[in-house]
Amino acid sequence: MNRAICPGTFDPVTNGHLDVIERASALFAEVVVAVALSPDKGGGPLFTLDERCGFIERAVAHLSNVVVRPFDGLLVEFAQEMDAKAVIKGLRAVTDFEREFQMAQLNYRIDKTVETMFIMSIPEYAYLSSSAVKEIARYGGSVKGLVPDEVCEALASRSHQSH
Ligand code: PNS
Repeated sequence: MNRAICPGTFDPVTNGHLDVIERASALFAEVVVAVALSPDKGGGPLFTLDERCGFIERAVAHLSNVVVRPFDGLLVEFAQEMDAKAVIKGLRAVTDFEREFQMAQLNYRIDKTVETMFIMSIPEYAYLSSSAVKEIARYGGSVKGLVPDEVCEALASRSHQSH
């Protein structure tokens, strides 16, 4: 089985993530979207692991070979558990490269059988990130077209609560 993993914190999933997931689903027999608990990232995620998984599940419902799974621990160990041979990451600007290169090298050191591969973001989403989306929403700006509509609404109500 030609299975790949698309890992991330997805706090929350953006249309840029979804574009990479959809393109990966056209290349591999099965894609597992691996949602990391990432308890320490940026002072703790805004959305719970369940919420983050739910947003993605509903957004990829039309892709029959994509499943969404939460994980906590080492990515390469989760890849082994899922019997996945490749880890697919999206790459936006040069600024992503250093962090992604470091993670790919470390993962390779831990397990040489899991290959990291990159899918370049389309220009339309090259500037898009979950943190930018959260910042715009926090100050009441519109993130329509950058994230699924359901996420837009969740961000709007979460941002109101925190003000
Ligand atoms: O969306 P993100 O936050 O850039 O994704 C980063 C993620 C979740 C892929 C990365 O932090 C990760 O792989 N976490 C699991 C822990 C792990 O395996 N760390 C070693 C990799 S350097």
